[in-house]
Amino acid sequence: MNNSLLDPFFTPFECKSLKVANRFTMAPMSRYFSPGGILTEASADYYRRRIEGGVGCVITEGVAVDRPGSVAADTVPGFFGEEGLAAWDRARSGVQAAGGAIIPQLWHVGGCEDFNYPDSPHPPLESPSGFAGPEIPGGREMTLKDVDGVIASFVRAALDAQRLGFDAIELHGAHGYLFDQFFWDATNLRSDRYGGPDIADRARFAVDVVSAIRQAVGPDYAIIFRVSQWKTYQYEAKIARTPQELERWLVPLADAGVDIFHGSDRRFWEHAFPEHGDYNLAGWAKKVTGKPAITVGSVGLDRDLMQDFVSGESAPTLKSLDELARRFDRGEFDLVALGRVLLADPNWLKKVREGRSGELRPYSKECMETLF
Ligand SMILES: Cc1cc2nc3c(=O)[nH]c(=O)nc-3n(C[C@H](O)[C@H](O)[C@H](O)COP(=O)(O)O)c2cc1C
Repeated sequence: MNNSLLDPFFTPFECKSLKVANRFTMAPMSRYFSPGGILTEASADYYRRRIEGGVGCVITEGVAVDRPGSVAADTVPGFFGEEGLAAWDRARSGVQAAGGAIIPQLWHVGGCEDFNYPDSPHPPLESPSGFAGPEIPGGREMTLKDVDGVIASFVRAALDAQRLGFDAIELHGAHGYLFDQFFWDATNLRSDRYGGPDIADRARFAVDVVSAIRQAVGPDYAIIFRVSQWKTYQYEAKIARTPQELERWLVPLADAGVDIFHGSDRRFWEHAFPEHGDYNLAGWAKKVTGKPAITVGSVGLDRDLMQDFVSGESAPTLKSLDELARRFDRGEFDLVALGRVLLADPNWLKKVREGRSGELRPYSKECMETLF
């Protein structure tokens, strides 16, 4: 029997260059299956299978921009160079031929060593003030020349994405990496244009990157920006403590050219500012900017991402789908990103929609070992 709860999500979504057949996208998930930084055909097939399994869009794993030290593991795919871009173009064409949209997530880790592969060789890292977390050294402090170099590398990647026909780009501004190191007062101690006591001061680096990309790609190419409060180094960290701070953080980004905000929550049903209502981060991003939003976090699972790293498994559950539908119905967000459920089972959406949840492949650490 069809699960009619999901019917409202099976309507198209459009924002500038991005056209998605339904409201589900694959969440960006690093897989470390790209030797020498070149995406393989197995990864391209893995992405295509998610579209065949029912989602309308793929946001790719974080991809390195063309800057030494933009990533800290040599198996993260690069989004630059003839060979690297040709590999990504094959993935793009497979996804689009299957009827899906594809969005590269452009990544610079700043001062963070790779969480999963701390011993992987990589060029020296760079960060706003030489910190990866509160009092955790990471990367050398960036000069203004470095800032210009990083901006140029993001612009190159955005232009390549547009030229190759990717449907949009996403900037990874979440989880404690470069953009987030600028946002966070624990990692941004700068006294120049890119630092300062207010979140609006610390957002200026991201604003400059977005403005430069917008100028390069023109008005009609969709730019998504992913944000989170939590960081890999501190799950309870908060960039914005109030909706007013969120506004001072995100509105300048929207004014600079962000079209869609991706609010990364560990559990989508949690309230971003409990004393101000029950909206999640994506919902608040939409409220304060007026832009469409993507939600994410434990859809279809009983454990959040960080508990998983400890326990290594998460059982499928559909109990949160009522709540997802309730929030979607009131317009809290426009798209839903699915992470681990799709990593485990490319056909998760199809099976859930067709009432075949008993056939779902559960998520476990073993799922990380192959590109199923
Ligand atoms: C294996 C794995 C890799 C991830 N890599 C990325 C990444 O490259 N970029 C990113 O923004 N988030 C990354 N995430 C976070 C996911 O995009 C998502 O926000 C998180 O898994 C919560 O969604 P879920 O509960 O549906 O899995 C990763 C998550 C997992 C499980």
